[in-house]
Amino acid sequence: MTSTFGRRRAALALSICLSLSSAAGAQTAPAKIKVGFMLPYSGTYAALGTAIENGFRLQVQEQGGRFGGREVEYVRVDDESDPSKAVDNVGKLIKRDQVDVIVGTVHSGVAMAMARAAKESGTLLVIPNAGADAITGPMCAPNIFRTSFSNWQPAYTMGTVVGQRGHRKVVTVTWKYAAGDESVKGFAEGLQKSGGEVVKDLTVPFPNAEFQALLTEIAAAKPDAVYAFFAGAGAVKFVKDYAAAGLGKTIPLYGPGFLTDGTLEAQGESAQGMFTTLHYADALGTPRDDAFRLAYAKTWKLQPDVYAVQGYDAAQALAVGFKAVGGDASKRRELIAAMEAARIDSPRGAFVFSKAHNPVQDVYLRRVDGNVNKSQGVAIKALADPARGCRMPAAS
Ligand code: PHB
Repeated sequence: MTSTFGRRRAALALSICLSLSSAAGAQTAPAKIKVGFMLPYSGTYAALGTAIENGFRLQVQEQGGRFGGREVEYVRVDDESDPSKAVDNVGKLIKRDQVDVIVGTVHSGVAMAMARAAKESGTLLVIPNAGADAITGPMCAPNIFRTSFSNWQPAYTMGTVVGQRGHRKVVTVTWKYAAGDESVKGFAEGLQKSGGEVVKDLTVPFPNAEFQALLTEIAAAKPDAVYAFFAGAGAVKFVKDYAAAGLGKTIPLYGPGFLTDGTLEAQGESAQGMFTTLHYADALGTPRDDAFRLAYAKTWKLQPDVYAVQGYDAAQALAVGFKAVGGDASKRRELIAAMEAARIDSPRGAFVFSKAHNPVQDVYLRRVDGNVNKSQGVAIKALADPARGCRMPAAS
């Protein structure tokens, strides 16, 4: 019979053994780099979250599964695009999982909470979609980068285009939250510059997709054009409802490219001929984009969209940062400096980060043709977000 003492001794010997072997293991295989995805995997933006993750994973695969020589591992949290759960969700990645970097998210309201948590904890955050202007404005920080856009960028561009096309009185329609509000504001600024004005601003709560009352109001207002901010499943529904109400024939519908990106198969006939503005277009025909699209289609058996590109570029930016420090995440200042100096060879066209860490990028005018958002050329070249209110502190 083994005594309690004997059992304790055996347990102690085993635990010493285990810790010695893990110490030896640590010498041969450096710890993995832990990436925490905080993305919507359910709800109206679910497809966007999946595309971002797919794009990110594809780029990591192309890097041999490593950043700066260290293997990359993932943990995931479904943020449900719900700002009320954002603090808890981001806390799980920072405290429980102790990730090296957070990648997320889609929804501006959730992303604002993530940016606050990243600022407080110092955790590196790369935003692969959410356009909240404040994140690269008053909230800008050395450890926060965005590989997508600010809400102002595509919206301002569309405002200038709609004005140039001769539309004077425009109704805007959007979900009532930061991204919708900022999109409409940026659009109004561009429109005003090119001679038009917003005459009515209609909203529905996020993620409501009951649009009949709004469509009735639009029909009654008889504007020259409509500008809409919706995305994901909500964009599919809005564009279909707009066409079904017969409005498409008399009042042209415009939007930032989210209105028709990753949605065309579902929108079908209802989206044909629509003009949108975005920092990406399908079938750009450049060798870089062709290679990306082929690799993405082969890997995921899906066509990529702007969200996939933004996820891919989040991984490209991190690959540059980690390479510069040989995978040593504690060399924070050098890692950030390398990302700041990076020229990202994006499928959208190469871009650099502004001082506020937002892409300086071309914004395309696109037209829906079948299942593609076909580029009609660059509407505004190398557009930088104004980054109003950003005073970037030095990296520590
Ligand atoms: C946002 O909330 O910032 C947002 C969401 C979906 C998009 C674009 C922006 O497609």
